Amino acid sequence: MNMSLMNIKNITVLGSGVMGHGIAQVSAMAGYNVALRDIDQKFLDKAMGKIIWSLNKLVEKNKITKQESEKIIGRIKTYVDLRESLNDSDLVIEAVPEDMNLKKKIYAELDKLAPSNTVFASNTSTLPITELSEVTTRSSTFIGIHFFNPPQLMPLVEVIPGAQTSNSLIDTTMRYVKSIGKEPVLCNKDVAGFIVNRIFIPLVHEAIWSLERDHVKMTEIDAAVKFKLGFPMGILELADYAGIDVIHKATQEMYSRDKGVINPHPILAKLFKEGNYGQKSGRGFYEYENSAYERISLTAEEAERYNPLRLLGVAVNNACWLITNRVSNMEDIDRATKFGLGLKVGLFPTAEKFGFVKIVDELKRAVKIYGNFYEPDATLLKLVQ
Ligand SMILES: NC(=O)c1ccc[n+]([C@@H]2O[C@H](COP(=O)([O-])OP(=O)(O)OC[C@H]3O[C@@H](n4cnc5c(N)ncnc54)[C@H](O)[C@@H]3O)[C@@H](O)[C@H]2O)c1
Repeated sequence: MNMSLMNIKNITVLGSGVMGHGIAQVSAMAGYNVALRDIDQKFLDKAMGKIIWSLNKLVEKNKITKQESEKIIGRIKTYVDLRESLNDSDLVIEAVPEDMNLKKKIYAELDKLAPSNTVFASNTSTLPITELSEVTTRSSTFIGIHFFNPPQLMPLVEVIPGAQTSNSLIDTTMRYVKSIGKEPVLCNKDVAGFIVNRIFIPLVHEAIWSLERDHVKMTEIDAAVKFKLGFPMGILELADYAGIDVIHKATQEMYSRDKGVINPHPILAKLFKEGNYGQKSGRGFYEYENSAYERISLTAEEAERYNPLRLLGVAVNNACWLITNRVSNMEDIDRATKFGLGLKVGLFPTAEKFGFVKIVDELKRAVKIYGNFYEPDATLLKLVQ
C-alpha cells in the first residue's frame, strides 16, 4: 500500500477518559467518523456527556451552530465490543491508562482483530513507541500521536515515529493532525519524555530543589516563572493543574529510561503517596477550595524576589540535548513550548533575553555545588562560543 496516499476517514479511539473523549471530539469536529471504545458503557455515557457539554459551550459562544453540533455528535458511535469498534477503521488512537502491560495486551489483541490496513497510534506520554509497536506485526504502521490535556483546547500534538515507522505514515499523521486544526511537532526519536515533557517534568523537580536550596517561597518561584519566563502560570501551579499523579508517573517512567534527564526530588513522590494530586484532589503544592479550576494569585513584586536562571538553565539544557541528539530543532522546540506549555515566546528567545552566557555560567556553578546533572550540553556550549 502506498501510505502517502492513505486517506483517513474512520478513526477508532480506545479509552474514553480524560484524553480519549477529547480526541474523539476534535476528530469528529474535523469530519472524521469516530468509534469510541471503552470497557464499560457507563464510561462511554460519561464521555458522551462531556462531549455534548463541550459542544454546547461552543454553540453558546457562536463558534458552531446547533445543527453542526448535532452532526458532530452523530459522527461519534460508542462501543464496548472491540471487534465492532474496529470495523472499517483506518486509524486506531489508543488512549487507555499509562500502563505498559495493559497497552501491550491491547495492541496484541488489536493486531489480531483490526483490518490489515488499519494503522495504530498511541497517545502515551512516556512509554517507548518502538517497544509498544513490537508486540504487533505492523511496527512500520505504528506511531505516537501525543495530544495535550485538554485536547479540545491545547493546540500542540507531538508526532513520534518509532524505530520502524514508515516515512509515509509520518506524513499521513502530520496531515491528520493539521486537518483537526492542531499544530503537529515532529519528535524525530522515541526518547524519554518526547519534547515537551522532557523539558516540563524536570523543571517541576528543579523548582522543588530550588525551594529547598534557595530558601524562597513557592509563590516567589511561581511568580518569577510566570512573569519573567512567560509561562501562563507558575511551574508548581502548573504541576498541580496537570496532576501530581500524572507527573509522578511520568517521572518514574522517564527516570527509568534515562537517568540523565531528570533529578527527581522526593517531595513529589511524597505528595503522590499522600494522595495529594493537585487541583483534582484539593491539595498538591497548593491548597484549593473547590475542585474546579482555580488560579493561584501571583504578583510581579514577588517575581522580583527570585531569579529563575537555574530553572531556565535546566530547561534550556534539556532542549539543547534534544538538538544534540537530533530529536528536534530550535524552531520546533520553540513551537512546542509555545503551543504545549503556553510560553509567551518560545524557550530559546526567552533564554536569549537572559543571555546564554549567564545560563552556562549558572549551570557550571551548579555542577560544582550539586553535581553532574547540571553539566551544560554540547549544543548549549556552542551557542556561547
Ligand atoms: N491526562 C493527561 O494529562 C494526559 C496527557 C497526554 C497523554 N496522556 C496519555 O493518554 C493516555 C490516557 O490517559 P487518560 O488521562 O485519558 O486516562 P483515563 O484514566 O482518564 O482514561 C483511560 C480510559 O481507558 C479505559 N480503558 C481501560 N482499558 C481499556 C481497554 N482495554 N479498552 C478501551 N478502554 C480502556 C478506561 O476505562 C478509561 O476510561 C495515557 O497513555 C496517558 O499517559 C494523558
